[in-house]
Amino acid sequence: MQLKDLARLASSELVQRIEFHQSLGSTNDRAALLASDEFLSCPALVVATEQTAGRGRGGNRWWSTPGGLMFSLVLQGTEPATNPAHWSGYSLATGLAICEALSFVSSTTDFTVKWPNDVYANGRKIAGILIESPAQARGRLIVGIGVNVNNSFRAAPEELQEIATSLCDIEQQPQDATNVLLGLLERLQQRWGQLRSQGFAAVREDWIARSLLTGRTVTLQVGPKQFVGRCLGIDDDGSLILQTESGRQAFAAGSVVQFE
Ligand code: BTN
Repeated sequence: MQLKDLARLASSELVQRIEFHQSLGSTNDRAALLASDEFLSCPALVVATEQTAGRGRGGNRWWSTPGGLMFSLVLQGTEPATNPAHWSGYSLATGLAICEALSFVSSTTDFTVKWPNDVYANGRKIAGILIESPAQARGRLIVGIGVNVNNSFRAAPEELQEIATSLCDIEQQPQDATNVLLGLLERLQQRWGQLRSQGFAAVREDWIARSLLTGRTVTLQVGPKQFVGRCLGIDDDGSLILQTESGRQAFAAGSVVQFE
C-alpha cells in the first residue's frame, strides 16, 4: 500500500478520518493516542506499511513482515467499549467480516474463524484481531487487524508454513492491498451495523457456519487453568461451548492453545 492509495480509501463510507504511516510501532498504539482526542471523528483509520512493535493477543508479538496489511480502527464509544465483557460480539463479528471479505478475493478458499477471532484460510492462520480500550481512549473501542496479504510464507521455515499463510501464497500472485482493505471496511461496516441494530443473534448463525473448532477437541487456557473438551460451538452471547469431562461448559474468555 502506498500514500497514493489514500484517495481510494477515502471513498470508504465507514471511515471519517484516515492516517497513513510508512512505519509505526503499533497501529493500535497510534489509534489509542488519536482516541484520546475527544473531538476525533470516528470511525478513524490508521494504516501502516511497517510496524516495529506490532502486538497480538495475550501479550504476544505480531510479526509485521513487509507486504502485510496492518491497520486499526477507532470506534465511537458505545456500550460495548467500556466493558470488555461486551467486546465479544464485536470481536466475533470482526472475524466473520474478515472471512467474508477475503472470500471475495479468493472464492475457492475455505476461510474460517477460530474462536474468538482468528481467521484461517484452508486451515492456516491468515489474520488476527486485537481489540482494546485503554484508559486514554476515552471509552472508545480500538480494533486492530493484521492480514497476511503480500507477505509470502514460501521462504519461511516449514513449521511456520504449516500454520500460517497469506493471500499471495494462496492466489500465487501479488494482491492489491488497497482493494483488500476496502473490501474489509465494507464487510466490517455491514456486520458491525447489524450487531448494533439487531444484536449478536443476527451474526451468530453465520459465525457458526464458519467455525473452525466445532466438532474438534480443543484445549482452552483460562488464566492458570486448562480445559479440554469437544467444541460444540458458541452460545447466544458468543461464549465457547465445550463438552468437557465434567459436562457442558461455556467460556466467555480464554485462549485456544491446541485443537485436533
Ligand atoms: C493476534 O492474532 O494475536 C492479533 C494480531 C493483531 C495484529 C494487528 S496488526 C495491526 C494492529 N496493530 C497491532 O499492534 N496489532 C494489531
